[in-house]
Amino acid sequence: MQKVLSLVCFVVLLQSCKEEPIHNIDYLPKLPSHFPELVFPTDNQYSDVRWELGKRLFQSNLLSIDSTLSCASCHHADKAFTDQEVVSIGVESRLGDRNTPTLANVAFHPYYTRDGGVPSLEMQVFVPIQEHAEFDFNIVLAGERLNSNEEIVQMSLEAYDRLPDPFVITSALAVYERTIVSYQSKYDRYLTGEYNFTEEEELGYNLFKSERLGCSGCHGGFDFSDYTFANTGLYIEYSDDGRYRVTLDENDLATYKVPSLRNVEHTYPYMHNGSFGDLRDVIRHYEQEVKQHPNLDTRIKNFELNSEEREALLHFLLTLTDEEFLNNPIYQ
Ligand code: HEC
Ligand code: HEC
Repeated sequence: MQKVLSLVCFVVLLQSCKEEPIHNIDYLPKLPSHFPELVFPTDNQYSDVRWELGKRLFQSNLLSIDSTLSCASCHHADKAFTDQEVVSIGVESRLGDRNTPTLANVAFHPYYTRDGGVPSLEMQVFVPIQEHAEFDFNIVLAGERLNSNEEIVQMSLEAYDRLPDPFVITSALAVYERTIVSYQSKYDRYLTGEYNFTEEEELGYNLFKSERLGCSGCHGGFDFSDYTFANTGLYIEYSDDGRYRVTLDENDLATYKVPSLRNVEHTYPYMHNGSFGDLRDVIRHYEQEVKQHPNLDTRIKNFELNSEEREALLHFLLTLTDEEFLNNPIYQ
């Protein structure tokens, strides 16, 4: 009997080996129901080796002209994939003209960069590789350079059945980026019933959603952005044209993609140009400093908070911090 049992166990074990999922479940987020489904394009489906290659490339200096910088030099995992600099710093310490945004939840964005000029994550990869103040390189040459790295060549063949080239670079990076998802903040656990807001956080949440403040009119939905473009009255005269760069439409002058507020505690300094150092400065802006730019968005409300409400709004924003995400070993 004992023998039969262990034979059965053995067979069951073999069976379960055979049925092991083809994907390393740790790489793919297990999203709660308030998130949309994570979709990979049909011509760039997920596989473990694609992800591993994407991560490898994300952290590799080989994509920059002088082999000194990687994507991770500006998008640090433990800083919610930002660099916490006012504006980004590229090869030879060249200053960029915009603040580095978080990559959390980029899989769900309908277009990329602050002016929305790039239609997919695959296409977006071309931008930093070419930009003078980022990698200042050429993706064809970068592909050739990768061919002298045996390990990357092996992974590339396994992942896409071809040698490293622009297709492999853009595809693998996009697979990796799509799995950079933040979904385990206090706010998420509040929604799934695993966490109770404090009274202060609850008050802040209600203010955030209120007609009076109107924050969720733009920072709404699961990702705290409706991905529209808006002018928030930072200045009367902007030095950055915003979405106008893409559309050449006067109505888009100085409008920027509404940023997600997930992990906003860690994505300082704020706004397209990093002009606010902390969240209190941002709240003060909405409360007291909004300028009457001709394109000022009509969803921006005129409101005043008492000190208790101001603290509460701040504390609600802090519930969007996702410690699991910031410390997730798969990104390190
Ligand atoms: C020198 C710093 C720097 C480097 C290196 C860099 N980025 Fe960025 N990244 C930025 C900045 C700044 C922006 C915002 C650009 C804009 O809005 O015009 C950005 C934007 C993005 C976006 C769009 C995010 C959004 O919300 O629309 C993605 C995706 C991205 N980067 C991925 C990458 C990848 C992949 C690499 C490596 C191939 C990389 N970045 C390298 C600074 C950098
Ligand atoms: C009209 C749409 C709109 C409304 C309403 C709005 N915001 Fe924003 N918010 C934006 C845009 C657009 C930006 C980015 C502006 C830029 O890059 O210059 C932004 C930036 C921010 C940032 C900085 C995020 C970062 O990573 O840089 C915070 C924090 C923020 N908003 C909080 C709020 C709060 C709190 C409210 C309510 C009082 C609010 N917003 C109302 C559109 C809006």
